[in-house]
Amino acid sequence: MYRQVMTDTQLISTIKYVASTRPAFLLSEIANYLDEPQPVSRMYTAIQPHLRQLCLSATKLGEDYKISWIVPAKPYALNTEEEMRIAAFFEEGTIPPALELAIEQYITKKVGKRWDDPVILSRLRRAIVAQKDDYWRPTHKRSLQYSKGYHVLGYLAYHFPVYFMQTQHLLALLARDGLLKEEMTILDIGTGPGVVPLAIADFYSRLDTARATLHAVERSEEHCEAFTFLTEHVAHTNTRVTIKPPVRADITALGSGQIPDSIDLAVFSNVINEMTGASVEARADLVMGIADRLAPDGTILIVEPAEEVTSTGLRTLSLAVKKRGLSIYAPCTFIHTTNCTPDRCWSFVTQKPIRPTPVMNALAACDEPFRYVNTDIKYSYVILRKDGKTREAYRVPAGTRGFRLSGIHLHVGRRVNIIASKMSEDLGDAQTHLFRLCDGSAEKPVYAVLPAFHITTENNAILSAPYGSILRLENVLVRYNKAHDAYNVLVNRQTRVAAVK
Ligand SMILES: C[S@@+](CC[C@H](N)C(=O)[O-])C[C@H]1O[C@@H](n2cnc3c(N)ncnc32)[C@H](O)[C@@H]1O
Repeated sequence: MYRQVMTDTQLISTIKYVASTRPAFLLSEIANYLDEPQPVSRMYTAIQPHLRQLCLSATKLGEDYKISWIVPAKPYALNTEEEMRIAAFFEEGTIPPALELAIEQYITKKVGKRWDDPVILSRLRRAIVAQKDDYWRPTHKRSLQYSKGYHVLGYLAYHFPVYFMQTQHLLALLARDGLLKEEMTILDIGTGPGVVPLAIADFYSRLDTARATLHAVERSEEHCEAFTFLTEHVAHTNTRVTIKPPVRADITALGSGQIPDSIDLAVFSNVINEMTGASVEARADLVMGIADRLAPDGTILIVEPAEEVTSTGLRTLSLAVKKRGLSIYAPCTFIHTTNCTPDRCWSFVTQKPIRPTPVMNALAACDEPFRYVNTDIKYSYVILRKDGKTREAYRVPAGTRGFRLSGIHLHVGRRVNIIASKMSEDLGDAQTHLFRLCDGSAEKPVYAVLPAFHITTENNAILSAPYGSILRLENVLVRYNKAHDAYNVLVNRQTRVAAVK
């Protein structure tokens, strides 16, 4: 066994070496370099699972194989019409009518009565309230079961529309950043009723030529049933997207044949926080296991609810996988190239709310309507890569002496210049604007505070700068906020704010 492993290791190193010297070669040529020459068929069996990771492909030529470099897929570039369709979709803010209808039909099919029957609506309300109560329990006390029909029906009525739309926002980000390819293999882990595959199929309906094959894993039978119904009723209209039936499995114990060998995009949407009781390291093991199957230019997207515990949990996980070799593409930037202290990093994105669905409106026709209408989109995400790629390239040059947020406590009461990323939308109000700042070094939260009466053309870039962008803030006053054990930097009329390129 040991000898075989050593032989395979030598074989793979040799393949890597020979591939670095020429664009293509025959597998039979490799035998000459090995201590123990092997038949081509044996060599092929040993290297086949590793080829995609090595960016190589094998083409059968008689008894031999031609090994050549895979030409990296070109990023899918959005054209103007596609951009316009995407913008119009977000402006409209509604779930596609066909999908809404399919959800209504599924509820009706499952309960054997019309979805808007008063008895059914009141059962759905109870299911939604129970799910929300469960969600706000400490993680180790949550049940998070999706074993009964109404758990899933409540999810479809209340959570699905917002998660569907937030997935589309994230897809738009990936597309605009060139992280989608013309043809992709996508894996959705913990797919539930198919939120991500359905969102991808819908998003791709606004693209001209991009194609995708979607795989999904889910352990709940009830969710898999909803997945099958919804994808059969809606997604088949988009022939450029193939949705495979969900694999019913536990994502923490996936067998090698259950997911694709080479994944271009892996998505964990609102699932990792459900691994109640799993340590950060166990969660990182799961992500790294998927990273092993990721194409060299592939992407992992993890998204979690914006709620404080799940959001900071995501940042802690992100740092753990960064330390194990993945790069954080976005939203974090490590401009001083040091690792951050993520324990209190509560950072999330806010998007335009969706319009309530007919099901939400029917549920809201009661004494406490606000309990059943879920339209706000707030989420925390991280995009991970294996190839070291990061969204923002700016790094403070090595050896530069300058201000770091890790030293902010030494400057309370002084005016300083700061370079940091804007890591929140406006957390304040019309009188006082408030933005989270991060340069990857701070130990305590830092906020930029801009009173409305201090807004000038010199400092208003902080209002419009996108989430995650790097800013230079010149001449801000440092204050310590004892109530929150955090630091505020006051942006006033003397302050200049500009984007760092
Ligand atoms: C909150 S739902 C999210 C569904 C979907 N990804 C979305 O964003 O709406 C979490 C899903 O993860 C599934 N899940 C949680 N832990 C799992 C595990 N260990 N194995 C497989 N599925 C799991 C649950 O059954 C549930 O369907």
